[in-house]
Amino acid sequence: MAALAGKRGVAVAIVFLISASVSSSIPFVVLHGIGDQCKNRGMDHFTQLLSNYSGSDGYCLEIGDGTMCSWFNTMQEQTDIACAKVKEMKELSGGYNIVGLSQGNLIARGIIEFCDGGPPVHNFISLGGPHAGTASVPLCGTGIFCIIADALIKLEIYSDFVQARLAPSGYIKIPTDIPAYMEGCKFLPKLNNEYPNEKNSTYKERFSSLKTLVLIMFEQDNVLIPRETAWFGYYPDGAFSPLLPPQQTTLYTEDWIGLKTLDDAGRVKFIGVPGKHLGISHSDMQKHVVPYLVDDADEPRAKLNDETSHVSKFSSALGTVLDTAGLTDSTRLFSPFRIGIEEDK
Ligand SMILES: *[C@@H]1O[C@H](CO)[C@@H](O)[C@H](O)[C@H]1NC(C)=O
Ligand SMILES: *[C@@H]1O[C@H](CO)[C@@H](O)[C@H](O)[C@H]1NC(C)=O
Repeated sequence: MAALAGKRGVAVAIVFLISASVSSSIPFVVLHGIGDQCKNRGMDHFTQLLSNYSGSDGYCLEIGDGTMCSWFNTMQEQTDIACAKVKEMKELSGGYNIVGLSQGNLIARGIIEFCDGGPPVHNFISLGGPHAGTASVPLCGTGIFCIIADALIKLEIYSDFVQARLAPSGYIKIPTDIPAYMEGCKFLPKLNNEYPNEKNSTYKERFSSLKTLVLIMFEQDNVLIPRETAWFGYYPDGAFSPLLPPQQTTLYTEDWIGLKTLDDAGRVKFIGVPGKHLGISHSDMQKHVVPYLVDDADEPRAKLNDETSHVSKFSSALGTVLDTAGLTDSTRLFSPFRIGIEEDK
């Protein structure tokens, strides 16, 4: 009898070990910002680094041809392409995590809220996302795309013409022009469930089913106006002041998309890191991004905490090794919308 119980114990232990190693991590996808593309060195490096740190498979999800598409396809078109892609990727069928960069965060939320039949998203880690909109047109530069973009911006931002041709027009929210925004802006009002009589409860249900929402704000961000939009903070309708913290916005208090639900459940992490737009250090990546990529949703909670701290200890040790070996990239890329991994401060 005792021998039998002992044998069963061994069998159970073996089964547990196997299932633990098979289900230890789920993959993640990265969605880049405007003007960037997966094949750019910075994006490739960022995705690989997260993958190396977390031990999870990571994929940079490209939409169309990358840079051009990120500027000139509407946010809805980009979301539809991304939705079709995640449904096709069999690697993601058991669920996955998303890391969003800047504009890519709104596509990420588009996938979470709108993508019928898409695989489940567990954790969503957002770096510098214009979640509540941005009150100014991003400064572009002198390249050919920027010349075209600037020409479009000079037209009416909420006209059908610009809405159909310039991605950022889908989330530019001028606080002193709210009626035009509500009427003309084709993407953000829907994504944030802002229409007074057309709240779609499915968006809220899906968004609030996230396991963890990590909202990272860059404290010296001068691309997003205001930078607190990365936390869903914004201006009140009609004025540029006062700046409302997330908990005082109507989106939050009336819980249009489930942000309050998530926050009440302790599942939102509001994180501020030093740095300009998308300029993140290795140590902040390890502290605020990596732990949510090693997380296993199917494990019991109590165990999860142990594992998480264990893994983050491991990954920071790994980070030190990589840093010491000189495998760091301090090159700040030219575009202010691209990821830049910075030396630890
Ligand atoms: C990630 O790990 C692979 C395999 O060890 C290595 O070739 C690659 O250089 C690493 N990438 C980064 C960015 O650390
Ligand atoms: C709400 O959104 C879901 C998901 O996209 C869609 O299937 C449903 O038809 C929408 N409901 C309404 C009332 O528009």
